[in-house]
Amino acid sequence: MGAEVLQVKGLNKIYPGKVPFHALHHIDLSVAAGEFVGIMGPSGSGKTTLLNVVSTIDRPTSGQVLLSGEDPFRLSSEGIARFRRRELGFVFQAFNLLDTMTVRENILLPLTLEGTDIGEMMKLADAMAKKLGITGILDKRTYEISGGQAQRTAIARALIHKPKLVLADEPTGNLDSKAAGDVMALMSALNKEEGATMLLVTHDAMAASYCDRIVFIKDGRTYSELRRNDSQEIFYQDILNALSQLGGDRHELSPVRV
Ligand SMILES: Nc1ncnc2c1ncn2[C@@H]1O[C@H](COP(=O)(O)OP(=O)(O)O)[C@@H](O)[C@H]1O
Ligand SMILES: [Mg+2]
Repeated sequence: MGAEVLQVKGLNKIYPGKVPFHALHHIDLSVAAGEFVGIMGPSGSGKTTLLNVVSTIDRPTSGQVLLSGEDPFRLSSEGIARFRRRELGFVFQAFNLLDTMTVRENILLPLTLEGTDIGEMMKLADAMAKKLGITGILDKRTYEISGGQAQRTAIARALIHKPKLVLADEPTGNLDSKAAGDVMALMSALNKEEGATMLLVTHDAMAASYCDRIVFIKDGRTYSELRRNDSQEIFYQDILNALSQLGGDRHELSPVRV
């Protein structure tokens, strides 16, 4: 097990307001270099809140978030934005590609922002596209490609600058089960082959079964944890069992994609 890429220590998040809402209670979570960790829990349990704080989009109320031992919240807001751009990669449910750009331009966005040499960028885009099986669509616009291809493009963009940590919020949420399986298999392969450290939020037990470890949260607290020891099929069954113990919204925890 490598060094810790992410350490969350005693994290509390309280949304202020007339009636303040305590969304995260003393969360402790570590992710080691090269790990692929899933976060699961019922609707409203605090998954997105946790991901938003880890991704520096939202501030903790108390407690610490360390990325490779560094506390990004100690930086200026400009420094935080730069940190996020350089050190993190994002994959969203809604793909969040720029539709005025080609697939290649979307993939290269993190490098364009850093002013990387153009020849170097083209080489990297070709290599990444090959890994994700999207070489044939590099010159297409994002409205000309399928959902599965769009998510593969987003994954390529999330990884092109070799971020410390890749964060994915429901990356299979808008895909049919075939495309979802393909996308998860690719994320898993990139985790293994590139050593990319990944944190995934998902409702989908099948998607979660590609992870090394699942942390379950309920009402803003860590509830239990499962590690994959055996086959993916056994892990999938273990995840379904854990979800049924966790309770919560039945629709949300349904293993059937709706
Ligand atoms: N900006 C906000 N202001 C107040 N309450 C919020 C805000 N965002 C989320 N919440 C509340 O915090 C809880 C956790 O939300 P969220 O992290 O989105 O859960 P999940 O992603 O697990 O469905 C929910 O009860 C939600 O209503
Ligand atoms: Mg959410």
